[in-house]
Amino acid sequence: MNLINAAVWTSRAVTFVADTHKMRETIRSQLDRDGYVVLEDFLRPAECDELRATGLELTKQAAEIEDRAVFSTIETEKQHLKDKYFMESNDKIRFFFESDALTPDGKLQVDPSISLNKVGHALHLLHPIFRCYTYSDRVKAVCRELGLKEPAVVQSMYIYKNPGLGGEVVPHQDATYLHTEPVPPVGFWIALEDATIQNGCLWMSPGSHKSGVHRRLQRNPDKEAQQGLVYDKPAPVYRESSFTPVPVSKGTCILIHGNVIHKSAHNKSDKSRHAYTFHVIEKHDNKYSPDNWLQEGPGAPFLNVYSTPQME
Ligand code: FE2
Repeated sequence: MNLINAAVWTSRAVTFVADTHKMRETIRSQLDRDGYVVLEDFLRPAECDELRATGLELTKQAAEIEDRAVFSTIETEKQHLKDKYFMESNDKIRFFFESDALTPDGKLQVDPSISLNKVGHALHLLHPIFRCYTYSDRVKAVCRELGLKEPAVVQSMYIYKNPGLGGEVVPHQDATYLHTEPVPPVGFWIALEDATIQNGCLWMSPGSHKSGVHRRLQRNPDKEAQQGLVYDKPAPVYRESSFTPVPVSKGTCILIHGNVIHKSAHNKSDKSRHAYTFHVIEKHDNKYSPDNWLQEGPGAPFLNVYSTPQME
């Protein structure tokens, strides 16, 4: 844990909280109107660098993963292993590879430092640095501005989007994967490097969150089935013209309404586009769907943002 940075960061949080008072009328109304909000300078450059270095440190473990073959194929018989690996990541720090980084038999064909698509889904619980940034005063302040009564973090991911390898994320709503009602989840997506059209920034469909939840990914009630997770409907087709690119500078946080349709393109540039993201749900008077892939458990408690300290 970098205590010097943490101390600087905590003092900065006071400034940020003061700044957010100016935004009192806008964060919530912008999220309601557009389905996303861009918060510039959410993290300082040095803070982004600390998180980025931590994300890169995690890639050193990628070379030691034994079951990489799980990711190297779309064979049906391996689908249940893939689903199992994913579903059991709720209380772990697990590694998800880019398909182009592996040979068909699961050998790395690129340097481990650029082999990962993402790491998830319990960084906010298990890693002291990610925990510190997740339960920060700044995040608490934004949750208050959003009017959340009992916000809880349910998952976290470090996303690499490496040059040449970082794949496309097709148009989707986060509520497809993480369904709560009547209040949808909110994603915090923090750019740790400049996110540009070239390296695969987010693209948003403004206002699309008002059209409800179009599709759900649910735990398969058939426990014997090959697929542990199933979609309830085919993927909708969205008009390309409805999307607008949202390039942002390093340190910007984009708040993402759970129902807004968004996507990102393949990274065809020579620059990475690292990001740290986590999702917050409202626990007060709100239903968390029991068929979501992600469920609360002893090793994966949905901790209240307001009452959880940054550090143990
Ligand atoms: Fe998303």
